[in-house]
Amino acid sequence: MLAIPPLAALAVLLTSVRGLNNGVGRLPAMGYDTFNAFACNYNATSVLAQAEAMQRHGLIEAGYKTLILDDCYALRTRNASGYMVADPSKWPHGLPAFSKQVNKLGIKLAAYGDNGYETCAGYPGSYGRELQDLETWHSWGMSYLKYDNCYIPADNVTEENMFGRYQRMSNAIAEFAAKRGQDPFLFSLCEWGWEQPWIWGKQISQAWRIDGDIKPYWSAIAAIIDQVSFQYWSSDFYGHNDMDILEVGNTGQGSPPGNLTYEETKSHFTAWALMKSPLIIGTDLTNATNQTFEILGNKDLITINQDPNVGHSISPFRWGINPDFVSNSTHPAEYWSGNSSYGVVFMILNSQDTDATMFFNLTESWAIRAGRQYSVYDMWQHKTTGMAVRNLTFSLPAHGVAALLLKDAGPEPEYLDGSCGFYYQCSWPNGTYISN
Ligand code: GAL
Repeated sequence: MLAIPPLAALAVLLTSVRGLNNGVGRLPAMGYDTFNAFACNYNATSVLAQAEAMQRHGLIEAGYKTLILDDCYALRTRNASGYMVADPSKWPHGLPAFSKQVNKLGIKLAAYGDNGYETCAGYPGSYGRELQDLETWHSWGMSYLKYDNCYIPADNVTEENMFGRYQRMSNAIAEFAAKRGQDPFLFSLCEWGWEQPWIWGKQISQAWRIDGDIKPYWSAIAAIIDQVSFQYWSSDFYGHNDMDILEVGNTGQGSPPGNLTYEETKSHFTAWALMKSPLIIGTDLTNATNQTFEILGNKDLITINQDPNVGHSISPFRWGINPDFVSNSTHPAEYWSGNSSYGVVFMILNSQDTDATMFFNLTESWAIRAGRQYSVYDMWQHKTTGMAVRNLTFSLPAHGVAALLLKDAGPEPEYLDGSCGFYYQCSWPNGTYISN
């Protein structure tokens, strides 16, 4: 497994920029959400089956410990005192009992709610009832809230924009925690990236969706990656771009049924993990394949996603097919890197529909030291595959990915004289150029 060099870890710890630090959500959340696989069609039996499958396949141990009941768990109307009621046809023994049942497996239930009068599927929204609903969710053993943006009050009602409307629940969460003397709910915004939440989200929450609903097709995955190439800077400890619920496992199933290839699914999971998105499973695990469990359980990628010392996302150092700094949802940036406690992380993505040769100079990445050689650890093969000196070339299948960890292996071989690997302007001490 990956080991932390203590001094390097301390250095990055001291230079990290943080978001809202109220003690929760320092690292990206990991869990399960009912929406991608089941939409509204779930109940205690089917959700428990997911939790049990998570346990059986080592996913809880791998870190997936939150189970979000997305839209549709309640009755459509509140009771006479205004409280939400768990739908008894879905939860015959009630949600507190169900919550305790999953707790025994090492999982905590999490809530879904809405900023407006109704949730997106028409269940009670929490506008004006923020504290009351926190009380209900708390009584159901929940301490995590995904908060949607449907059926919102008109402008003249709140005289608030997106930030102000979301701040209502953020304030209620702080008030509820202070009153009860307990940790605040983790607050995960879902306003679909409408109003640049990557700029303000971290002031009031721990995660913010950056886009509309994900779909289990490559075009949707590529478009989200393209978006992050302009927003990666926003993720760090206590605040994360939420790239949406994973579609891993939904090939041939889910609603709508997906068609991601194995290579595309690996690229999808690699990007979400290394861009420090919450990792939220969204497939029916009771009939998932071994490949699905292998991808969701990739310990190396999870270790980087959950790095306790380095909070930032990988970032693109070259777009590849597409011109640098230009958005292209079909050909998102292909060459990405970042730091970690375990080495320099690279994600190389082939955005083309055919096999391609990928090439980069190591020092194109800001995180690499010039004049050093690096051992190359492959985070899909889970082994060291060779040594990198100055550059790397390899081929990737259509929409395939390489997830690499480059570890410093000392000065580069002496036969390489004083030339610079990538930039020109490299000079001898007397002022003559070496390489240009
Ligand atoms: C959408 C949201 C989805 C899911 C759905 C439930 O607005 O983006 O992730 O929560 O509502 O109706």
